[in-house]
Amino acid sequence: MTYNVNLDIKPDVHAVFDPATNTISYVVKDPGSNACAIVDSVMDIDYAAGRISYEHADELIDYVQSNGLKLEWLIETHVHADHLSAAPYIQSKLGGKLGIGRNITMVQDTFGKVFNEGTEFQRDGSQFDKLFDDGDTYTVGGMECLAIHTPGHTPACMTHVMGDAAFVGDTLFMPDGGSARADFPGGDAGTLYDSIQKVLSLPDETRLFMCHDYGPNGRDIQWETTVAEEKAHNIHVGGGKTREEFVKFRTERDAQLAMPKLIIPSLQVNMRGGDLPPADEDGKRFLKVPLNGL
Ligand SMILES: [Fe+2]
Repeated sequence: MTYNVNLDIKPDVHAVFDPATNTISYVVKDPGSNACAIVDSVMDIDYAAGRISYEHADELIDYVQSNGLKLEWLIETHVHADHLSAAPYIQSKLGGKLGIGRNITMVQDTFGKVFNEGTEFQRDGSQFDKLFDDGDTYTVGGMECLAIHTPGHTPACMTHVMGDAAFVGDTLFMPDGGSARADFPGGDAGTLYDSIQKVLSLPDETRLFMCHDYGPNGRDIQWETTVAEEKAHNIHVGGGKTREEFVKFRTERDAQLAMPKLIIPSLQVNMRGGDLPPADEDGKRFLKVPLNGL
């Protein structure tokens, strides 16, 4: 598959790392204007205390405001299972449209059942301003952006290409990190391999930005690489590893992984586009813990 990308457009990419969840959020600025997008923001949570706060989001907001930028898009690469999105909070301060992959509806259907949400929980993606299909384009200022459907980790995963920069979500990790798990409901290792090939079909010089890094083997946290580097060195798919080899490895590895620490609060918030569950008659909000439900 060949995607039409323009490597001559080189957006400024400002990364903010969240050490609590090893997530990297990005402010991506159109080189030709003051327009920007935010990719994968984080809301802070102390789950043991049931306390949420917005230090990480405020850092992103400060960056946008102090640089005189205009936020046009809030992009979620997927429904994250390891951190909570701060998109609605940021949107309330800075505006912009919130977008995610069309298959959010599948994720909402699955986890609407897991959390026994009532009929008031819409499973049609209407919590978002835009549901992206494979190959959809949109603009940030004058910069044309492209959404590529890259399922496998989850059914709704998208990779967003903005100029020469691609935001891969959890489709890939840094070359020495490999790839994300594919065993969540709706995930599939073979599908993930096929999606990774889509990303690796982008031009070799395309800059790739990760959603997570865990600093394997004690190295410092990193989040930026290239298609060429991933093709040559990715420990799970690089050097021409076959689909069959990948599926075998990924399936065996995933069977040994524990649930992410924040999966229960993350899914309940992120499937609502980052909104908290609705308040009860006293105005209080609660998260549920389904027992033996995941
Ligand atoms: Fe994820």
